[in-house]
This record gives sequence, C-alpha cells and structure tokens, in this order.
Amino acid sequence: MILLSNKIGFKYVFERNPDLRYIIFAGKGGLGKTTSSAGLSYKLSDLNKKVLCFSTDPQASLSDVFERDLFGKGEIEVKKNLYVLEIDADKRVNEYIESIRQKIRDMYKIEEIPREIEDYIESSKSEPAMYESAVYDAMIDVISQGRHDYYIFDMPPFGHGIRMIAMADILAKWVDKIYEARKEALELDVAAARLKGEKLLEYEDQIMKELNDIRNRIVYFSRLLTDERRTAFVMVLIPEKMAILDTERAVEMFEELGLKLRGIVINQIYPPKLLEDPGASDYLKKRVLSQKPYLREIYEKFSDLIIATIPMFNREPKGLEMISRIGDELWESSIDLGVIEEIIKR
Ligand SMILES: Nc1ncnc2c1ncn2[C@@H]1O[C@H](COP(=O)(O)OP(=O)(O)OP(=O)(O)O)[C@@H](O)[C@H]1O
Ligand SMILES: [Mg+2]
Repeated sequence: MILLSNKIGFKYVFERNPDLRYIIFAGKGGLGKTTSSAGLSYKLSDLNKKVLCFSTDPQASLSDVFERDLFGKGEIEVKKNLYVLEIDADKRVNEYIESIRQKIRDMYKIEEIPREIEDYIESSKSEPAMYESAVYDAMIDVISQGRHDYYIFDMPPFGHGIRMIAMADILAKWVDKIYEARKEALELDVAAARLKGEKLLEYEDQIMKELNDIRNRIVYFSRLLTDERRTAFVMVLIPEKMAILDTERAVEMFEELGLKLRGIVINQIYPPKLLEDPGASDYLKKRVLSQKPYLREIYEKFSDLIIATIPMFNREPKGLEMISRIGDELWESSIDLGVIEEIIKR
C-alpha cells in the first residue's frame, strides 16, 4: 500500500528543494501576498536563517503589516535574523533621472540642460518601464550582495510583477544592441583619434563598461529567476470565483514566459471545525459552507500545486504575533489536504 501524506506546508517544499533561496510571491492584488511574505520570512528567521523580506509597494504594505515605518528607510532588522527592505521606487526613479542629468552635464560640460532634453527627461519619468526597471535594479542589488540565506519577494500585483520578470530577456537583448552599436562607434572614434594623434576621451570607455555591467547583472538575474532549483514562484489565492479564474490565467501566462509556477497558497479558508463549534455564529458556519464549491474547484484544478493554506483569521493579521501565526500556518498548514477533502465531501 502506498501511504500518501496529506500534509502540506513550506517545510516540505524546502525539504524537497534544499537549494531553494528565493521565493517570489506573485498574483492578483488583495489576496494575501504581503501577509504571506511577512509570515514566511518570520518563520524562516525563527529557524535561525537570515532572511530578507523585500517589497516595492508604494502603499508601504510591509510597514503596515509589521506596524513599523519601514518605507524608503533601507534594510531594517525587525527581529533577530529578519530584515525588511521596503523600496521607495519613485524616489529611486528620481535619483536615477538625476544621475542621468548629471552625466549629461558632465559629458557636455554644461551647467544647464537644454529645454528640449529636459522635457524629454521629465516625460520619461512617468513611463511605467522606468518604474519597473528601478524595482528590478533594487532586486538585483540585494540578490547580488548575497548577505542573506533567504530572499522573500512581495511582488506588485500580478501583470506588473510578471511583466517585469519577463523584461529581463528583452532588457538584456536591448543592452546588447546598444553595446554593439557603441562598440562600432568607439572603434571608429579610436581610429579617427589615432589619425589626428589624439587620445580618446575617458568617458567613452566608461560608458562601455557601464553598459557591460548592466547587461551582466540582467543576465545573471534572469538565469537565477528561471533556475527552479533556487527560485520558486508562488501565487496566493482565496476560495472565490474570480481568484480561481485569475490563477488559471496566471498559470498560462507563466508557461508562455517560460517560467514555472511552483505552487499556490490558499488563503482565508474558514476552518471546517467551526461547524462543530457551538460558540461559532451562524454567519461563520455559512461562510464555511459557501467556500465549499470553490475549494472543490481549486482542489480539482490545481491539486498538485497546493503547497500551503492559511485559515481566515478574525482580524487582519498585523504585528509580529499575528505574522508569526501566519508563518506557522504556511510552514505546516493546519488545513491540510485531508481537511480540504473533508470540506469538499460535506
Ligand atoms: N488569513 C487572513 N485572515 C484575515 N485577514 C487576512 C488574511 N490574509 C490577508 N488578510 C487581509 O486581507 C487584506 C489583503 O491581504 P494582503 O495585503 O496580504 O494582500 P496583497 O496580495 O499583498 O494585496 P496587494 O496586492 O494590494 O498588495 C489585508 O487587509 C490583510 O490583512
Ligand atoms: Mg501587498
């Protein structure tokens, strides 16, 4: 007889994938990415691992969940081994734009940037690609420093986060093209300078070096993201119609992008033991039953993708104590596959 375990949780995911270092929580807004990111980070740090929990949410949701002002403050240790980094991406875009301005001033040895160039720079600021590449850069920064055992990324709501990752490839190719074009131009310049007996300006070399660095970083990052041994994409959903549809679409989108979805976390499940609890209200009992068809659908459609569950709590999980409870649920879920089957069969 084959004994199939009903147990689920990140504990088993890490046991089966000892090289796993990067967990990326993706998915639609409002279903529990930030809550899960905080919870899993907490649990790993409790197990004596050095963890970085990272987010770029302009709503400062990690600050909200950890009940501390972390936004744009750099890496902050919120408890032993647990570091939170909540990037202010708009600020980074502004810094980046300012550095471009400075480079133009230095290059052309001018005090004031001509109006039309200034207009161009200003308009590029609101480009979504600008924002994304700032976010992206920040992710590469922390990963390449490699100072932590685990990296948990709380990604922006779906389309966004995933497009950003798919961008790695496009960005790398784009930088490649610029690099080649500049290399040709540089060779011509070198030849011309030699004819005139001049030396080439130093910044030409510098630009080439910078482009090459950018490219190497992107390629490194994109390899890492598509390496299933080290990286896992996880989606959070709840037992509701729209969330199921979105997850189905997401699974397809992942495949199209050549990424693999490692699994899903089902959040906000009303524990079935409420049905036997004389103290539980009729409202709660109804909620348990109303989730039944959706849990069945999730179970049938994604059965081999379910990696953890989180029960519905009676208040918003905020503060270290609640985050710790979320972490425990994610690690070894109290609502396991057996309990889900039990709900479905009722
Ligand atoms: N298991 C739970 N029990 C009770 N409330 C929950 C649970 N999980 C999440 N919530 C609440 O649901 C809301 C959405 O959760 P969360 O902020 O984690 O979602 P998100 O996916 O990060 O959203 P966004 O895409 O907007 O960043 C929050 O108010 C959170 O406190
Ligand atoms: Mg969030």
